[in-house]
Amino acid sequence: MNKIVVFSGNAHRELAAALCKRLKVRLSPAAITTFSNNCLGVQLEVNCRQADVFIVQPLVTPVQEHLMELLLMLDAARGASAARITAVIPHFAYARSDKKDAPRISIAARLVADLLATAGANRVLTMTLHSEQVHGFFSVPVDHLNALQVLAQHFRGRPLKNTIVVSPDLGNAKAASHFARMLNLPVAAGSKQRVSDDRVVIDAIVGDVDGKHVIVIDDEIANGGTIVEVLEKLRERQVKRIVVVCTHGLFTGKAIERLRGQAGVEEIVTTDTVPIPPHKRLPNMKILSVAPLLALAIRHIHVGASVTGLFE
Ligand code: R5P
Repeated sequence: MNKIVVFSGNAHRELAAALCKRLKVRLSPAAITTFSNNCLGVQLEVNCRQADVFIVQPLVTPVQEHLMELLLMLDAARGASAARITAVIPHFAYARSDKKDAPRISIAARLVADLLATAGANRVLTMTLHSEQVHGFFSVPVDHLNALQVLAQHFRGRPLKNTIVVSPDLGNAKAASHFARMLNLPVAAGSKQRVSDDRVVIDAIVGDVDGKHVIVIDDEIANGGTIVEVLEKLRERQVKRIVVVCTHGLFTGKAIERLRGQAGVEEIVTTDTVPIPPHKRLPNMKILSVAPLLALAIRHIHVGASVTGLFE
């Protein structure tokens, strides 16, 4: 395989630049323009003939715009005779539309997976999909990373006596158990029901959380409804110190206001899979970088080494 060439869409250039720095390759320029008829145009500005091309673009707001940019960049790389094209999507937002839970709806995650392959993606490198089964929606190989090791590392060496890891829902309980095992901690989980996009109800928390310090871990925080609800239930159980952890810190809608209003939250730990602009950064927020992990995965993909091996 020839050299690695990395391009970035407009969604998260900082992350693309950080992983290029780790890879010791330059971030190759691409021109992305909007024509007067509101259509997008893309031109890759360096030769990538027979190259191992990686295009970095998490699907963050405005998602449709960023998705279209990614599709056009994939198509442009294919047309430019790249040897292999990997879509690097640290946050695949459409993964939340992964099942038919209402009549006459589209399972959009599957459609978007098809669109990416049709546009030219030969592989996908992604992180912490909303549910494991989304991996199987892709007809091309997918390397599905998680940030649990990066997040756990943050807590190593800290006093964690009398601490329990809490997942707000059962869907995330497996990842939470994995995280808890890394820190040698017990785990508990909430029984959550989503009432609307903005509101969830947690009926109960299963596990011995009473009077403990808690680390609440979720795959993402979107509008913060889940975290607010789980914290309310945990306070009813007289928990002590509270730390909130998530991989994708989207902080949409009123999330930041909601989190700011949560007394007793010592720390909010998240990663840079998505850009977090200054106005969304709280004084008790810690943002860990996944760039080293993504760069390592790209290196392994490039040389044909195991990516799963990175997690063993
Ligand atoms: C849902 O199943 C996920 O694991 C997260 O709990 C959810 O996406 C968080 O969304 P929000 O912050 O809007 O409640």
